[in-house]
Amino acid sequence: MTLEYTILIPMPLPFPDDLLQVPHRRDVPFAKLTTLGVGGLCRWLFEPTTEAQAQTFVRACAREGLPWRVLGGGSNLVVLGDLEGPLLRLALPKIVTQEGSLLSAPASHGHIALAEAAAAAGLSGLEFASGIPGSLGGAIRMNAGAYGREWVNVLARYRFLTPEGELVEKAPEPGEFSYRQSFLTGGRVVLSATALLAEGDPATIRAQVAEYRAKRGTSQPLSKRNAGCIFKNPTGQSAGRLIDAAGLKGLRVGDAEVSPEHANFLVNHGHATAAEFAELMDQVQARVLEVHGVRLEPEVEIWRP
Ligand code: EPU
Repeated sequence: MTLEYTILIPMPLPFPDDLLQVPHRRDVPFAKLTTLGVGGLCRWLFEPTTEAQAQTFVRACAREGLPWRVLGGGSNLVVLGDLEGPLLRLALPKIVTQEGSLLSAPASHGHIALAEAAAAAGLSGLEFASGIPGSLGGAIRMNAGAYGREWVNVLARYRFLTPEGELVEKAPEPGEFSYRQSFLTGGRVVLSATALLAEGDPATIRAQVAEYRAKRGTSQPLSKRNAGCIFKNPTGQSAGRLIDAAGLKGLRVGDAEVSPEHANFLVNHGHATAAEFAELMDQVQARVLEVHGVRLEPEVEIWRP
């Protein structure tokens, strides 16, 4: 009789000790981290509950030369495959503070919840945000907006980490924010933001929020899993109108479909994959270019790990 022995050699963890002190989870499906509900696995999800832990994360990654990414509310993201490198998702306590008409919140605060907190406090200026999902940090980074208003219109101050992990707090300056973009990319992480709002009549603010909600409810497919508008509006034009006029409403790849309600929304009918969304986006882009001669630029981020 022969005996077989298996020698178990513990695999060294791929990250240094200080990074591993930051709260983290393994193998989390991106389907659970994104509003579209698709994507591979996030192998290492780091969820700091303090700014100091977030700083430890960024400093350790910078020191080790580790390529890392940051995730907000996952409402604007498609991940094609598994992500092996560390992913940062802030889990700071969701505390809103008010000083007069200044309202501050951590980046991990829900964007819609913050707009609701402003309305409840009788502060006007964030009504536009009341239907835009995701996290506050993601909204600042994208300079999110609706109905002719965007974050840079109300942003008084914000705190962020540099790619080296230094903490900076400042007021916005010209050139830092533009239509659906900001300089808060490339390893910069928004930690918190302060909006300068105006005292208003709570009933009027609530009525405005309700009107925006009703408008979105009738024009956007909010009952299905979606990632908001998929493409940016080309200057002076509407991506939704261009896609619609190209006859693409209802175009489908697997369970991913161009919404029949709003052509700039793609919806997940239940079992769509990230690859199906990417393929559908390619088809829409190609068709709009062919029909209108306009190259649509994605508003959603596509990660190809
Ligand atoms: N339209 C069509 N067919 C469609 C959809 C729209 O003809 O299928 C036409 C509408 O009739 C309207 C025009 O296109 O005349 C613009 O449509 P809409 O008012 O829905 O606004 P949008 O430009 O498509 C933008 C933002 C939305 C935001 C709304 C409301 C972008 C890319 N989109 O949409 O933001 O909710 O205004 O302010 O800036 C997002 O950023 O994810 C998003 C959904």
